[in-house]
Amino acid sequence: MTNSETVYFNGSYTPKNQTKLSILDRGFLFGDGVYELIPIYNKHIFYVKNHLNRLRSSLELINIDSAIVNDEKFIKIIKSLIELNSYVNHYIYIHISRGVDKTRNHVYTNECDPTILIMGENYQPFDKSIIEIGKSAIIEEDYRWLKSNIKSTSLLANVLIKNKAYTSDAYEALLLRDGYLTEGSASNVFIIDNGVIKTPKLSNKLLPGITRKFLADLIKEHGLEFDECDISKEKLLSSDEIFCSSSTNPVVPITQVDNISISRNAGPISMQLYGHAQKFIEDSYK
Ligand SMILES: Cc1ncc(COP(=O)(O)O)c(C=O)c1O
Repeated sequence: MTNSETVYFNGSYTPKNQTKLSILDRGFLFGDGVYELIPIYNKHIFYVKNHLNRLRSSLELINIDSAIVNDEKFIKIIKSLIELNSYVNHYIYIHISRGVDKTRNHVYTNECDPTILIMGENYQPFDKSIIEIGKSAIIEEDYRWLKSNIKSTSLLANVLIKNKAYTSDAYEALLLRDGYLTEGSASNVFIIDNGVIKTPKLSNKLLPGITRKFLADLIKEHGLEFDECDISKEKLLSSDEIFCSSSTNPVVPITQVDNISISRNAGPISMQLYGHAQKFIEDSYK
């Protein structure tokens, strides 16, 4: 992404490097906002209705009027950004904060208008050759708050945890709360246990990932066995395969957790799902 790319900011299309935000914006001061990251494949917006529904749900959970997210309006803006910036395969980041207040005050009023930013984000998904080798992960205590189902811009805990993984030469941190898997610092987590694909059931302890939903749809379509259930630390570490899912990389096999080897390379069921996901994307977004 270059700094002269066009972004959408509070009703206008402006160059990224000339877009200014007030220091009294509650998103800046308190992380008081929510966001979405939506993949663009060959200029098409991936699972857009699901992403916009989750955005509305996040807004409702922090008491911001979700009617500000209108499907038709938002899709039009995203399509304009795709054209203005010549995006082909890209990501769109949507950020909505509670808005600019008169003073810095924890207590909010309904007087400020939400700040809406929509811009491109440039991530490079892993090549298939990397996916086949797999990645390593660490285990970390899930010390985040108990509203992890909100896609909140308050990401300090996730940032600290992801950086611990990074400095440990790992791709991701797998989070345990009371001895049970919740998700990754920036992904949902699946295991394969005796041929069954398992992932923690949705709750306030994890984000309802759109890729998680996409993979669940594919799993059902291809008749694979699926279970949303509790996964203990012991079950996680003795599983046959592990993979992480997120919008940037739908399936990332994890072959090692801390010093424990899970599989030599990416496991067969993870690779099968990776193949189904790639095929769906290629076929649907020609
Ligand atoms: C904490 C967390 N869980 C799960 C996910 C995966 O969500 P999605 O598939 O919607 O990208 C993300 C993505 O950013 C995340 O940050």
